[in-house]
Amino acid sequence: MDTKGLAWWRNSIGYIIYPESFKDSNDDGVGDIRGIVSKLDYLKELGVNLLWICPLFKSPMDDGGYDVSDYRQINPRFGTMEDFDDLLSEAHKRGIRILIDFVLNHTSDEHPWFQTAIRDPGSKERGYYFFREGRKANGKELPPNNWKGFFSTSAWERLPGSDLYYLHIFSKKMPDVNWANPELRERYFEIARFYLDKGVDGFRLDAVAHLAKDLSFADSAGQPDEDGFVYDTSKFSNRPELFDYLQMLKKNVFSHYDCLTVGEAGGNISPQDALKMADRQNGSINLVFNFDTVWDNGNYGSIDKGDQDIRTDVISLKDNFMRWYEVCHERADMPLYWCNHDHPRVVSQYGSIAFRAESAKMLFNTILFLYGTPFIYNGEEIGMSNVNYARCEDFFSDVGTRNDVASLRSRGYDDGKILGYLNRTSRVNARTPMQWDRTRYAGFSAHRGVNRVNDNYLSGVNVADEMADPWSILNFYQYAIGLRKDPVINEQVLEGRLEIVDHGHPDVFAYLHDGKDKLMVISNFRPYQVYFSFYYALGDVLLHNYDQVLLSDHVFALRPFETYLLRLR
Ligand code: NOJ
Repeated sequence: MDTKGLAWWRNSIGYIIYPESFKDSNDDGVGDIRGIVSKLDYLKELGVNLLWICPLFKSPMDDGGYDVSDYRQINPRFGTMEDFDDLLSEAHKRGIRILIDFVLNHTSDEHPWFQTAIRDPGSKERGYYFFREGRKANGKELPPNNWKGFFSTSAWERLPGSDLYYLHIFSKKMPDVNWANPELRERYFEIARFYLDKGVDGFRLDAVAHLAKDLSFADSAGQPDEDGFVYDTSKFSNRPELFDYLQMLKKNVFSHYDCLTVGEAGGNISPQDALKMADRQNGSINLVFNFDTVWDNGNYGSIDKGDQDIRTDVISLKDNFMRWYEVCHERADMPLYWCNHDHPRVVSQYGSIAFRAESAKMLFNTILFLYGTPFIYNGEEIGMSNVNYARCEDFFSDVGTRNDVASLRSRGYDDGKILGYLNRTSRVNARTPMQWDRTRYAGFSAHRGVNRVNDNYLSGVNVADEMADPWSILNFYQYAIGLRKDPVINEQVLEGRLEIVDHGHPDVFAYLHDGKDKLMVISNFRPYQVYFSFYYALGDVLLHNYDQVLLSDHVFALRPFETYLLRLR
Protein backbone atom coordinates (compact mmCIF):
# COMPACT_ATOMS: atom_id res chain seq x y z
CA MET A 1 0.00 0.00 0.00
CA ASP A 2 1.17 3.57 -0.57
CA THR A 3 0.89 6.37 2.00
CA LYS A 4 -2.77 6.99 1.05
CA GLY A 5 -3.63 3.33 1.57
CA LEU A 6 -3.87 2.76 -2.15
CA ALA A 7 -2.26 -0.19 -3.83
CA TRP A 8 1.15 1.14 -4.85
CA TRP A 9 0.88 -0.02 -8.43
CA ARG A 10 -1.89 2.52 -8.98
CA ASN A 11 0.90 5.10 -8.99
CA SER A 12 3.38 3.05 -10.97
CA ILE A 13 4.76 3.35 -14.46
CA GLY A 14 5.99 -0.03 -15.59
CA TYR A 15 8.81 -0.88 -17.96
CA ILE A 16 9.40 -4.32 -19.48
CA ILE A 17 12.96 -5.57 -19.95
CA TYR A 18 13.95 -8.45 -22.21
CA PRO A 19 17.36 -9.09 -20.62
CA GLU A 20 19.06 -10.82 -23.54
CA SER A 21 18.88 -7.70 -25.67
CA PHE A 22 18.82 -4.83 -23.17
CA LYS A 23 22.43 -4.08 -22.21
CA ASP A 24 25.52 -6.28 -22.27
CA SER A 25 28.04 -5.38 -19.54
CA ASN A 26 30.73 -7.95 -20.37
CA ASP A 27 30.70 -7.74 -24.16
CA ASP A 28 29.83 -11.34 -24.87
CA GLY A 29 26.89 -10.34 -27.06
CA VAL A 30 24.25 -11.23 -24.45
CA GLY A 31 22.52 -8.65 -22.29
CA ASP A 32 22.88 -9.25 -18.57
CA ILE A 33 21.94 -8.20 -15.05
CA ARG A 34 24.94 -5.88 -14.62
CA GLY A 35 23.84 -4.25 -17.85
CA ILE A 36 20.41 -3.60 -16.36
CA VAL A 37 21.99 -2.18 -13.20
CA SER A 38 24.07 0.19 -15.34
CA LYS A 39 20.87 1.58 -16.86
CA LEU A 40 18.87 2.11 -13.67
CA ASP A 41 19.70 5.81 -13.63
CA TYR A 42 18.46 6.11 -17.19
CA LEU A 43 15.22 4.38 -16.22
CA LYS A 44 14.75 6.54 -13.18
CA GLU A 45 15.25 9.65 -15.24
CA LEU A 46 12.73 8.39 -17.76
CA GLY A 47 10.31 8.25 -14.85
CA VAL A 48 9.50 4.57 -14.64
CA ASN A 49 9.33 3.02 -11.18
CA LEU A 50 8.40 -0.60 -11.78
CA LEU A 51 10.33 -3.11 -13.88
CA TRP A 52 9.04 -6.41 -15.18
CA ILE A 53 12.13 -8.39 -16.12
CA CYS A 54 11.67 -11.42 -18.40
CA PRO A 55 13.15 -14.69 -17.03
CA LEU A 56 16.66 -14.60 -15.61
CA PHE A 57 16.81 -18.18 -14.39
CA LYS A 58 18.91 -21.12 -15.40
CA SER A 59 17.68 -22.33 -18.75
CA PRO A 60 18.83 -24.01 -21.94
CA MET A 61 17.19 -21.02 -23.66
CA ASP A 62 14.95 -22.93 -25.99
CA ASP A 63 12.32 -20.22 -25.56
CA GLY A 64 14.04 -17.06 -24.38
CA GLY A 65 14.44 -18.41 -20.84
CA TYR A 66 10.77 -19.37 -20.42
CA ASP A 67 12.11 -22.92 -20.29
CA VAL A 68 13.48 -22.92 -16.75
CA SER A 69 15.80 -25.72 -15.65
CA ASP A 70 16.45 -24.37 -12.15
CA TYR A 71 14.24 -21.71 -10.58
CA ARG A 72 16.67 -20.92 -7.81
CA GLN A 73 19.69 -20.24 -9.97
CA ILE A 74 20.42 -17.30 -12.18
CA ASN A 75 21.30 -18.15 -15.76
CA PRO A 76 25.09 -17.70 -16.03
CA ARG A 77 24.49 -15.90 -19.35
CA PHE A 78 22.85 -13.16 -17.32
CA GLY A 79 25.06 -13.18 -14.21
CA THR A 80 24.95 -14.56 -10.69
CA MET A 81 22.59 -14.51 -7.72
CA GLU A 82 24.82 -11.80 -6.26
CA ASP A 83 24.24 -9.67 -9.34
CA PHE A 84 20.52 -10.23 -8.92
CA ASP A 85 20.58 -9.22 -5.25
CA ASP A 86 22.53 -6.17 -6.25
CA LEU A 87 19.97 -5.32 -8.91
CA LEU A 88 17.23 -5.50 -6.29
CA SER A 89 19.01 -3.24 -3.86
CA GLU A 90 20.17 -0.73 -6.51
CA ALA A 91 16.67 -0.54 -7.96
CA HIS A 92 15.08 -0.10 -4.54
CA LYS A 93 17.56 2.67 -3.69
CA ARG A 94 16.19 4.51 -6.70
CA GLY A 95 12.56 3.92 -5.83
CA ILE A 96 12.16 1.33 -8.59
CA ARG A 97 10.32 -1.89 -7.83
CA ILE A 98 11.09 -5.22 -9.48
CA LEU A 99 8.72 -7.86 -10.81
CA ILE A 100 10.27 -11.09 -11.97
CA ASP A 101 8.80 -13.46 -14.50
CA PHE A 102 7.47 -16.54 -12.74
CA VAL A 103 7.06 -19.43 -15.16
CA LEU A 104 4.72 -21.87 -13.50
CA ASN A 105 2.86 -23.58 -16.32
CA HIS A 106 5.84 -25.61 -17.51
CA THR A 107 9.50 -26.32 -16.85
CA SER A 108 12.34 -27.06 -19.20
CA ASP A 109 12.69 -30.71 -20.16
CA GLU A 110 16.18 -30.31 -18.63
CA HIS A 111 14.73 -29.49 -15.23
CA PRO A 112 15.68 -32.20 -12.69
CA TRP A 113 11.96 -32.80 -11.98
CA PHE A 114 11.35 -33.80 -15.57
CA GLN A 115 14.57 -35.75 -15.84
CA THR A 116 13.60 -37.77 -12.75
CA ALA A 117 10.06 -38.17 -14.04
CA ILE A 118 11.18 -39.79 -17.28
CA ARG A 119 13.87 -41.89 -15.67
CA ASP A 120 11.76 -43.25 -12.82
CA PRO A 121 8.07 -44.05 -13.42
CA GLY A 122 7.65 -44.62 -9.68
CA SER A 123 9.00 -41.19 -8.71
CA LYS A 124 6.85 -38.46 -7.18
CA GLU A 125 8.05 -36.19 -10.01
CA ARG A 126 6.26 -38.46 -12.48
CA GLY A 127 3.05 -36.98 -11.14
CA TYR A 128 4.29 -33.43 -11.75
CA TYR A 129 3.76 -33.80 -15.50
CA PHE A 130 1.23 -35.29 -17.91
CA PHE A 131 2.21 -38.59 -19.50
CA ARG A 132 -0.28 -40.47 -21.69
CA GLU A 133 -0.10 -43.34 -24.13
CA GLY A 134 -0.24 -42.62 -27.82
CA ARG A 135 -2.91 -43.98 -30.19
CA LYS A 136 -2.70 -46.02 -33.35
CA ALA A 137 -4.84 -45.44 -36.41
CA ASN A 138 -4.37 -47.23 -39.75
CA GLY A 139 -1.02 -48.47 -38.56
CA LYS A 140 0.11 -44.91 -37.78
CA GLU A 141 1.38 -43.83 -34.38
CA LEU A 142 -0.59 -40.82 -33.14
CA PRO A 143 -0.38 -38.61 -30.06
CA PRO A 144 -2.92 -39.19 -27.24
CA ASN A 145 -5.31 -36.59 -28.65
CA ASN A 146 -5.66 -33.98 -31.40
CA TRP A 147 -4.70 -30.89 -29.39
CA LYS A 148 -2.44 -28.40 -31.09
CA GLY A 149 -0.12 -26.22 -29.01
CA PHE A 150 0.78 -22.55 -29.36
CA PHE A 151 3.90 -23.17 -31.39
CA SER A 152 2.33 -24.71 -34.53
CA THR A 153 2.59 -28.41 -33.67
CA SER A 154 0.89 -31.20 -31.72
CA ALA A 155 0.77 -30.45 -28.00
CA TRP A 156 2.32 -33.87 -27.34
CA GLU A 157 5.83 -35.19 -27.77
CA ARG A 158 6.76 -38.82 -27.72
CA LEU A 159 9.33 -39.99 -25.21
CA PRO A 160 12.09 -41.64 -27.22
CA GLY A 161 11.90 -45.44 -27.07
CA SER A 162 8.44 -45.52 -25.49
CA ASP A 163 4.72 -45.40 -26.28
CA LEU A 164 4.32 -42.53 -23.90
CA TYR A 165 3.87 -38.91 -24.80
CA TYR A 166 4.07 -35.83 -22.57
CA LEU A 167 1.99 -32.69 -22.85
CA HIS A 168 3.60 -29.39 -23.87
CA ILE A 169 1.37 -26.55 -25.04
CA PHE A 170 4.46 -24.50 -25.92
CA SER A 171 7.74 -25.93 -27.28
CA LYS A 172 8.52 -29.60 -26.94
CA LYS A 173 11.32 -28.64 -24.58
CA MET A 174 8.74 -27.18 -22.18
CA PRO A 175 6.64 -29.95 -20.61
CA ASP A 176 3.50 -28.66 -18.86
CA VAL A 177 3.30 -29.26 -15.14
CA ASN A 178 0.30 -30.73 -13.39
CA TRP A 179 -1.29 -28.20 -11.03
CA ALA A 180 -3.80 -30.81 -9.89
CA ASN A 181 -0.91 -32.35 -7.96
CA PRO A 182 -0.72 -30.81 -4.43
CA GLU A 183 2.97 -31.54 -4.03
CA LEU A 184 3.80 -29.80 -7.30
CA ARG A 185 1.85 -26.77 -6.15
CA GLU A 186 3.82 -26.71 -2.90
CA ARG A 187 7.09 -26.68 -4.92
CA TYR A 188 5.89 -23.52 -6.69
CA PHE A 189 4.76 -21.87 -3.47
CA GLU A 190 8.27 -22.43 -2.09
CA ILE A 191 9.89 -20.86 -5.16
CA ALA A 192 7.62 -17.83 -4.95
CA ARG A 193 8.43 -17.37 -1.26
CA PHE A 194 12.14 -17.71 -1.97
CA TYR A 195 12.06 -14.65 -4.24
CA LEU A 196 9.61 -12.62 -2.16
CA ASP A 197 11.82 -13.21 0.87
CA LYS A 198 14.73 -11.88 -1.15
CA GLY A 199 12.78 -8.69 -1.67
CA VAL A 200 11.28 -8.89 -5.13
CA ASP A 201 8.14 -6.80 -5.35
CA GLY A 202 6.06 -9.33 -7.22
CA PHE A 203 5.64 -11.46 -10.26
CA ARG A 204 4.51 -11.41 -13.80
CA LEU A 205 2.84 -14.83 -13.90
CA ASP A 206 3.71 -16.39 -17.22
CA ALA A 207 1.02 -18.22 -19.19
CA VAL A 208 -1.07 -18.34 -16.05
CA ALA A 209 -4.34 -18.86 -17.90
CA HIS A 210 -3.24 -22.37 -18.78
CA LEU A 211 -2.57 -23.93 -15.39
CA ALA A 212 -5.72 -26.06 -15.52
CA LYS A 213 -6.25 -28.53 -18.36
CA ASP A 214 -9.18 -30.65 -19.46
CA LEU A 215 -8.06 -33.73 -17.58
CA SER A 216 -10.29 -36.02 -19.63
CA PHE A 217 -7.84 -35.26 -22.46
CA ALA A 218 -10.71 -35.82 -24.89
CA ASP A 219 -10.19 -34.79 -28.52
CA SER A 220 -11.27 -31.32 -29.48
CA ALA A 221 -14.33 -31.30 -31.74
CA GLY A 222 -13.01 -28.21 -33.52
CA GLN A 223 -11.83 -27.86 -37.12
CA PRO A 224 -8.60 -29.86 -37.66
CA ASP A 225 -5.67 -28.38 -39.58
CA GLU A 226 -3.87 -30.11 -42.48
CA ASP A 227 -2.14 -32.40 -40.01
CA GLY A 228 -5.29 -33.32 -38.10
CA PHE A 229 -4.60 -31.09 -35.06
CA VAL A 230 -7.05 -28.60 -33.57
CA TYR A 231 -6.01 -25.28 -32.10
CA ASP A 232 -8.56 -25.23 -29.30
CA THR A 233 -7.32 -23.16 -26.39
CA SER A 234 -10.44 -23.99 -24.35
CA LYS A 235 -8.84 -27.36 -23.59
CA PHE A 236 -6.13 -25.69 -21.54
CA SER A 237 -7.16 -22.11 -20.83
CA ASN A 238 -9.19 -20.34 -18.15
CA ARG A 239 -10.80 -23.53 -16.93
CA PRO A 240 -12.71 -23.60 -13.61
CA GLU A 241 -9.91 -25.20 -11.56
CA LEU A 242 -7.56 -22.39 -12.57
CA PHE A 243 -9.39 -20.02 -10.25
CA ASP A 244 -8.89 -22.45 -7.36
CA TYR A 245 -5.17 -22.73 -8.07
CA LEU A 246 -4.85 -18.95 -8.09
CA GLN A 247 -6.69 -18.71 -4.78
CA MET A 248 -4.28 -21.26 -3.34
CA LEU A 249 -1.34 -19.16 -4.52
CA LYS A 250 -2.91 -16.15 -2.85
CA LYS A 251 -3.68 -17.92 0.42
CA ASN A 252 -0.35 -19.68 0.71
CA VAL A 253 1.95 -17.02 -0.66
CA PHE A 254 0.79 -13.68 -2.09
CA SER A 255 -1.43 -12.61 0.81
CA HIS A 256 1.58 -12.73 3.14
CA TYR A 257 3.50 -10.05 1.22
CA ASP A 258 2.84 -6.55 -0.13
CA CYS A 259 3.47 -7.78 -3.64
CA LEU A 260 2.05 -7.17 -7.09
CA THR A 261 0.97 -10.13 -9.21
CA VAL A 262 0.30 -9.63 -12.90
CA GLY A 263 -1.14 -12.59 -14.77
CA GLU A 264 -0.57 -13.13 -18.45
CA ALA A 265 -3.94 -14.40 -19.58
CA GLY A 266 -4.19 -15.58 -23.13
CA GLY A 267 -6.49 -18.27 -24.45
CA ASN A 268 -9.28 -15.79 -25.23
CA ILE A 269 -9.95 -14.85 -21.64
CA SER A 270 -13.10 -12.80 -21.14
CA PRO A 271 -13.07 -9.60 -19.07
CA GLN A 272 -15.51 -11.37 -16.72
CA ASP A 273 -13.03 -14.16 -16.05
CA ALA A 274 -10.22 -11.65 -15.64
CA LEU A 275 -12.33 -9.80 -13.10
CA LYS A 276 -12.79 -13.03 -11.20
CA MET A 277 -9.00 -13.18 -10.97
CA ALA A 278 -8.28 -9.54 -10.17
CA ASP A 279 -11.30 -8.39 -8.16
CA ARG A 280 -9.91 -6.25 -5.31
CA GLN A 281 -12.28 -7.87 -2.80
CA ASN A 282 -12.04 -11.55 -3.49
CA GLY A 283 -9.76 -12.02 -6.47
CA SER A 284 -6.44 -13.78 -6.26
CA ILE A 285 -4.03 -11.68 -8.32
CA ASN A 286 -3.85 -7.96 -9.03
CA LEU A 287 -3.66 -7.26 -12.74
CA VAL A 288 -4.45 -9.30 -15.83
CA PHE A 289 -2.72 -8.74 -19.15
CA ASN A 290 -4.97 -9.59 -22.09
CA PHE A 291 -4.13 -9.61 -25.79
CA ASP A 292 -7.29 -8.08 -27.22
CA THR A 293 -5.73 -4.75 -28.12
CA VAL A 294 -2.46 -6.03 -29.58
CA TRP A 295 -3.54 -7.18 -33.04
CA ASP A 296 -6.37 -4.83 -33.99
CA ASN A 297 -5.16 -4.45 -37.56
CA GLY A 298 -5.60 -7.86 -39.16
CA ASN A 299 -1.89 -8.60 -38.87
CA TYR A 300 -2.15 -11.75 -36.76
CA GLY A 301 -1.75 -14.84 -38.94
CA SER A 302 -1.72 -12.58 -42.00
CA ILE A 303 0.40 -14.82 -44.26
CA ASP A 304 -2.07 -14.43 -47.13
CA LYS A 305 -2.10 -10.65 -46.89
CA GLY A 306 0.28 -7.98 -48.11
CA ASP A 307 1.52 -4.99 -46.09
CA GLN A 308 -1.12 -2.82 -47.78
CA ASP A 309 -3.90 -4.96 -46.27
CA ILE A 310 -2.88 -4.20 -42.70
CA ARG A 311 -4.87 -1.29 -41.32
CA THR A 312 -5.65 -0.36 -37.75
CA ASP A 313 -9.30 -0.88 -36.92
CA VAL A 314 -9.67 2.15 -34.69
CA ILE A 315 -13.28 1.45 -33.78
CA SER A 316 -12.47 -2.08 -32.72
CA LEU A 317 -9.52 -0.83 -30.71
CA LYS A 318 -11.77 1.60 -28.85
CA ASP A 319 -14.33 -1.17 -28.30
CA ASN A 320 -11.73 -3.55 -26.96
CA PHE A 321 -10.31 -1.09 -24.46
CA MET A 322 -13.79 -0.12 -23.33
CA ARG A 323 -15.10 -3.66 -23.10
CA TRP A 324 -12.42 -4.38 -20.51
CA TYR A 325 -12.79 -1.04 -18.79
CA GLU A 326 -16.57 -1.35 -18.37
CA VAL A 327 -16.37 -4.77 -16.77
CA CYS A 328 -13.31 -4.22 -14.61
CA HIS A 329 -12.70 -0.65 -13.56
CA GLU A 330 -14.91 -0.39 -10.49
CA ARG A 331 -13.67 -3.58 -8.95
CA ALA A 332 -10.20 -4.18 -10.31
CA ASP A 333 -6.98 -2.49 -11.33
CA MET A 334 -5.81 -3.05 -14.88
CA PRO A 335 -2.54 -2.98 -16.81
CA LEU A 336 -2.10 -1.02 -20.04
CA TYR A 337 0.42 -1.85 -22.74
CA TRP A 338 0.91 -1.86 -26.49
CA CYS A 339 3.79 -4.25 -26.84
CA ASN A 340 6.05 -6.74 -25.12
CA HIS A 341 8.70 -9.26 -26.19
CA ASP A 342 6.02 -11.44 -27.84
CA HIS A 343 4.72 -8.91 -30.36
CA PRO A 344 5.93 -6.81 -33.25
CA ARG A 345 7.03 -3.28 -32.38
CA VAL A 346 4.07 -0.99 -31.83
CA VAL A 347 5.31 1.86 -34.03
CA SER A 348 5.34 -0.61 -36.93
CA GLN A 349 2.09 -2.24 -35.85
CA TYR A 350 -0.17 0.79 -35.34
CA GLY A 351 2.09 3.69 -36.30
CA SER A 352 4.23 4.41 -39.33
CA ILE A 353 7.93 4.49 -40.03
CA ALA A 354 7.41 7.46 -42.34
CA PHE A 355 5.95 9.29 -39.34
CA ARG A 356 8.00 7.58 -36.66
CA ALA A 357 8.13 10.46 -34.19
CA GLU A 358 4.55 11.60 -34.68
CA SER A 359 3.07 8.13 -34.47
CA ALA A 360 5.22 6.92 -31.56
CA LYS A 361 4.20 9.96 -29.52
CA MET A 362 0.57 9.58 -30.52
CA LEU A 363 0.49 5.94 -29.46
CA PHE A 364 2.03 6.71 -26.11
CA ASN A 365 -0.29 9.60 -25.39
CA THR A 366 -3.26 7.41 -26.30
CA ILE A 367 -2.43 4.57 -23.96
CA LEU A 368 -0.87 6.49 -21.10
CA PHE A 369 -4.03 8.28 -19.98
CA LEU A 370 -6.41 5.34 -20.21
CA TYR A 371 -7.50 3.67 -16.97
CA GLY A 372 -4.76 1.46 -15.54
CA THR A 373 -1.08 0.95 -14.81
CA PRO A 374 0.95 1.56 -17.98
CA PHE A 375 3.81 -0.71 -19.07
CA ILE A 376 6.35 0.46 -21.66
CA TYR A 377 8.38 -2.13 -23.56
CA ASN A 378 12.14 -1.46 -23.75
CA GLY A 379 12.96 0.52 -26.87
CA GLU A 380 9.41 1.76 -27.34
CA GLU A 381 10.47 5.05 -25.74
CA ILE A 382 12.85 5.75 -28.63
CA GLY A 383 10.52 4.54 -31.37
CA MET A 384 12.30 1.25 -32.14
CA SER A 385 10.58 -0.45 -35.06
CA ASN A 386 10.39 -3.86 -36.73
CA VAL A 387 13.48 -5.25 -38.42
CA ASN A 388 13.91 -5.74 -42.10
CA TYR A 389 15.85 -8.99 -42.27
CA ALA A 390 16.73 -10.56 -45.61
CA ARG A 391 16.21 -14.25 -44.84
CA CYS A 392 13.74 -16.33 -42.85
CA GLU A 393 16.71 -17.88 -41.04
CA ASP A 394 17.52 -14.47 -39.52
CA PHE A 395 14.46 -15.01 -37.31
CA PHE A 396 15.45 -18.46 -36.15
CA SER A 397 16.54 -17.46 -32.66
CA ASP A 398 12.86 -17.88 -31.76
CA VAL A 399 11.40 -21.36 -31.51
CA GLY A 400 7.85 -20.15 -32.22
CA THR A 401 8.94 -18.42 -35.42
CA ARG A 402 11.05 -21.42 -36.46
CA ASN A 403 8.08 -23.72 -36.09
CA ASP A 404 5.86 -21.29 -37.99
CA VAL A 405 8.31 -21.15 -40.88
CA ALA A 406 8.54 -24.95 -41.03
CA SER A 407 4.77 -25.22 -41.08
CA LEU A 408 4.37 -22.49 -43.73
CA ARG A 409 7.06 -24.00 -45.95
CA SER A 410 5.43 -27.41 -45.69
CA ARG A 411 2.16 -25.83 -46.77
CA GLY A 412 3.85 -24.54 -49.92
CA TYR A 413 4.47 -20.86 -49.13
CA ASP A 414 7.62 -19.48 -50.71
CA ASP A 415 10.29 -17.80 -48.62
CA GLY A 416 9.64 -14.35 -50.10
CA LYS A 417 6.07 -14.43 -48.86
CA ILE A 418 7.05 -15.86 -45.48
CA LEU A 419 9.77 -13.26 -45.02
CA GLY A 420 7.36 -10.36 -45.57
CA TYR A 421 5.07 -11.93 -42.99
CA LEU A 422 7.89 -12.36 -40.44
CA ASN A 423 9.18 -8.84 -40.90
CA ARG A 424 5.66 -7.70 -40.05
CA THR A 425 4.62 -10.12 -37.31
CA SER A 426 7.44 -12.11 -35.71
CA ARG A 427 8.22 -11.46 -32.07
CA VAL A 428 11.92 -11.36 -33.00
CA ASN A 429 11.13 -7.80 -34.12
CA ALA A 430 10.88 -6.87 -30.46
CA ARG A 431 14.01 -8.78 -29.45
CA THR A 432 16.74 -6.94 -31.34
CA PRO A 433 19.37 -5.14 -29.22
CA MET A 434 18.32 -1.98 -27.44
CA GLN A 435 19.73 1.02 -29.28
CA TRP A 436 21.74 3.14 -26.86
CA ASP A 437 23.95 5.19 -29.17
CA ARG A 438 25.64 5.37 -32.59
CA THR A 439 28.61 3.17 -31.84
CA ARG A 440 28.86 -0.29 -33.40
CA TYR A 441 25.99 -2.58 -32.34
CA ALA A 442 24.20 0.50 -31.09
CA GLY A 443 26.10 0.62 -27.81
CA PHE A 444 24.39 -2.58 -26.69
CA SER A 445 27.61 -4.61 -26.71
CA ALA A 446 30.97 -4.80 -28.47
CA HIS A 447 29.61 -7.94 -30.10
CA ARG A 448 26.70 -8.85 -32.26
CA GLY A 449 23.67 -9.76 -30.16
CA VAL A 450 21.59 -12.92 -30.48
CA ASN A 451 19.52 -11.03 -33.06
CA ARG A 452 21.04 -8.52 -35.46
CA VAL A 453 20.66 -4.89 -34.44
CA ASN A 454 18.24 -2.76 -36.43
CA ASP A 455 20.32 -0.45 -38.66
CA ASN A 456 18.16 2.55 -37.92
CA TYR A 457 20.24 3.21 -34.79
CA LEU A 458 22.53 5.03 -37.24
CA SER A 459 19.78 7.38 -38.28
CA GLY A 460 18.86 8.76 -34.92
CA VAL A 461 16.84 5.91 -33.38
CA ASN A 462 18.99 5.62 -30.28
CA VAL A 463 18.96 6.91 -26.72
CA ALA A 464 21.96 9.25 -26.97
CA ASP A 465 20.70 11.10 -30.04
CA GLU A 466 17.22 11.35 -28.64
CA MET A 467 18.40 12.66 -25.31
CA ALA A 468 20.08 15.50 -27.14
CA ASP A 469 16.97 16.41 -29.14
CA PRO A 470 14.33 18.25 -27.10
CA TRP A 471 11.61 17.16 -29.55
CA SER A 472 12.54 13.51 -29.59
CA ILE A 473 10.23 10.61 -28.81
CA LEU A 474 12.29 9.92 -25.70
CA ASN A 475 11.84 13.42 -24.34
CA PHE A 476 8.14 13.25 -25.11
CA TYR A 477 7.91 10.01 -23.12
CA GLN A 478 9.72 11.53 -20.20
CA TYR A 479 7.54 14.61 -20.15
CA ALA A 480 4.35 12.61 -20.60
CA ILE A 481 5.27 10.23 -17.77
CA GLY A 482 5.86 13.25 -15.53
CA LEU A 483 2.32 14.44 -16.27
CA ARG A 484 0.82 11.00 -15.76
CA LYS A 485 2.43 10.78 -12.32
CA ASP A 486 1.05 14.14 -11.25
CA PRO A 487 -1.27 13.21 -8.34
CA VAL A 488 -4.18 15.30 -9.66
CA ILE A 489 -3.94 13.82 -13.14
CA ASN A 490 -3.38 10.32 -11.75
CA GLU A 491 -6.52 10.60 -9.66
CA GLN A 492 -8.50 11.89 -12.59
CA VAL A 493 -7.29 9.07 -14.82
CA LEU A 494 -8.11 6.41 -12.24
CA GLU A 495 -11.26 7.87 -10.73
CA GLY A 496 -12.84 10.04 -13.43
CA ARG A 497 -15.34 8.20 -15.56
CA LEU A 498 -13.80 7.23 -18.89
CA GLU A 499 -15.86 7.86 -22.01
CA ILE A 500 -15.09 7.49 -25.67
CA VAL A 501 -15.84 10.64 -27.66
CA ASP A 502 -17.25 10.16 -31.16
CA HIS A 503 -17.13 6.39 -31.00
CA GLY A 504 -18.03 5.99 -34.67
CA HIS A 505 -15.08 8.03 -35.94
CA PRO A 506 -13.10 5.51 -38.00
CA ASP A 507 -9.75 7.29 -37.71
CA VAL A 508 -9.68 9.09 -34.40
CA PHE A 509 -9.34 7.60 -30.93
CA ALA A 510 -10.65 10.27 -28.56
CA TYR A 511 -11.62 9.89 -24.93
CA LEU A 512 -12.49 11.91 -21.92
CA HIS A 513 -12.11 11.50 -18.18
CA ASP A 514 -15.04 13.24 -16.64
CA GLY A 515 -14.70 14.77 -13.21
CA LYS A 516 -14.15 18.13 -11.55
CA ASP A 517 -12.11 19.06 -14.51
CA LYS A 518 -12.12 17.15 -17.72
CA LEU A 519 -9.10 15.53 -19.28
CA MET A 520 -9.25 14.60 -22.93
CA VAL A 521 -7.08 12.74 -25.42
CA ILE A 522 -7.56 13.11 -29.17
CA SER A 523 -5.43 10.93 -31.45
CA ASN A 524 -5.38 10.57 -35.20
CA PHE A 525 -4.38 7.00 -36.11
CA ARG A 526 -3.89 7.75 -39.83
CA PRO A 527 -0.87 8.86 -41.87
CA TYR A 528 -3.01 11.61 -43.41
CA GLN A 529 -5.09 14.55 -42.27
CA VAL A 530 -8.52 13.88 -40.81
CA TYR A 531 -11.14 16.12 -39.20
CA PHE A 532 -12.56 15.89 -35.74
CA SER A 533 -15.34 18.05 -34.30
CA PHE A 534 -14.95 19.40 -30.86
CA TYR A 535 -17.74 20.77 -28.66
CA TYR A 536 -16.01 21.46 -25.37
CA ALA A 537 -14.46 24.69 -24.11
CA LEU A 538 -10.75 24.28 -24.60
CA GLY A 539 -8.62 24.81 -21.49
CA ASP A 540 -4.93 23.96 -21.69
CA VAL A 541 -3.03 21.87 -24.16
CA LEU A 542 -1.00 19.63 -21.86
CA LEU A 543 0.67 17.49 -24.53
CA HIS A 544 0.86 17.76 -28.28
CA ASN A 545 3.11 16.32 -30.99
CA TYR A 546 3.03 19.18 -33.52
CA ASP A 547 4.08 22.77 -33.16
CA GLN A 548 0.72 24.55 -33.56
CA VAL A 549 -2.89 23.92 -32.64
CA LEU A 550 -5.10 23.85 -35.76
CA LEU A 551 -8.60 24.42 -34.48
CA SER A 552 -11.19 26.43 -36.32
CA ASP A 553 -14.85 26.70 -35.50
CA HIS A 554 -14.95 23.58 -33.30
CA VAL A 555 -13.15 21.47 -35.85
CA PHE A 556 -9.65 20.13 -35.46
CA ALA A 557 -7.76 19.44 -38.65
CA LEU A 558 -5.61 16.60 -37.32
CA ARG A 559 -2.36 16.10 -39.20
CA PRO A 560 -0.86 12.62 -39.65
CA PHE A 561 -0.85 10.88 -36.26
CA GLU A 562 -1.47 14.15 -34.45
CA THR A 563 -2.34 13.80 -30.78
CA TYR A 564 -3.45 16.07 -27.96
CA LEU A 565 -3.85 15.81 -24.24
CA LEU A 566 -6.20 18.60 -23.23
CA ARG A 567 -7.60 19.96 -20.03
CA LEU A 568 -11.11 21.23 -20.70
CA ARG A 569 -13.03 23.88 -18.90
C1 NOJ B 1 4.51 -16.15 -22.59
C2 NOJ B 1 5.86 -15.53 -22.75
O1 NOJ B 1 5.72 -14.14 -22.74
C3 NOJ B 1 6.43 -16.07 -24.05
O2 NOJ B 1 7.58 -15.38 -24.44
C4 NOJ B 1 6.65 -17.54 -23.91
O3 NOJ B 1 7.01 -18.08 -25.16
C5 NOJ B 1 5.39 -18.28 -23.42
N1 NOJ B 1 4.67 -17.56 -22.40
C6 NOJ B 1 5.74 -19.60 -22.85
O4 NOJ B 1 6.36 -19.45 -21.61
